[in-house]
Amino acid sequence: MSDKIVNVLGICGSLRQKSFNKAALQAAIELAPSDMRIEVAAIGDIPLYNADVQEKGFPAAVETLGAKIQAADALLLVTPEYNYSVPGVLKNAIDWVSRLPSQPCAGKGVAIMGASPSMLGTARAQYHLRQICVFLDMYPINKPEVMIANASAKFDENGKLHDAVSRELIGKLLVSLGKWGRHLQARPRDA
Ligand SMILES: Cc1cc2nc3c(=O)[nH]c(=O)nc-3n(C[C@H](O)[C@H](O)[C@H](O)COP(=O)(O)O)c2cc1C
Repeated sequence: MSDKIVNVLGICGSLRQKSFNKAALQAAIELAPSDMRIEVAAIGDIPLYNADVQEKGFPAAVETLGAKIQAADALLLVTPEYNYSVPGVLKNAIDWVSRLPSQPCAGKGVAIMGASPSMLGTARAQYHLRQICVFLDMYPINKPEVMIANASAKFDENGKLHDAVSRELIGKLLVSLGKWGRHLQARPRDA
């Protein structure tokens, strides 16, 4: 188990081309330990949640996301903060996936990080996301917390994260996620 590659699914809560959070996810891909692979999931094509639509069958984009979550050893959620909370696009994707009978999120390890131009670096959104993880029965990593504040000073014009402290924290978070993902995958299924 210890020499196995840890497959992580990265999900970003911003659809914006020049998103700081997309750039932070890209930094995580670069900073991932050699035994970790991070794939980026697409959530932009997921329609707004509607139980009437669900009754007729889950949209293909939801089934695809659910299957990718199911196949991953762990998740990396990279979230902006909108109005002190999780952006609608990310919450919508989570809401859809949470209705899948297979419950792909249940029991998964998850790392959370985010970037914001403001002073708190998505702290409030991250704590809301942790609350959501309770209902999803996910297991978030507590530390390190990666809250990239004042983001416009930490990424260059090409979206490269140049802030050494943020890069170090992301590296540590991913090492923890690798260990946590292995630990959770190795435990008996009904534990
Ligand atoms: C609808 C909306 C609400 C926002 N609310 C907050 C907020 O509560 N806290 C915050 O730090 N930034 C807030 N912002 C600013 C975002 O942090 C900023 O737009 C950021 O760049 C979004 O992430 P992205 O660069 O990954 O797209 C808000 C932006 C939008 C569009």
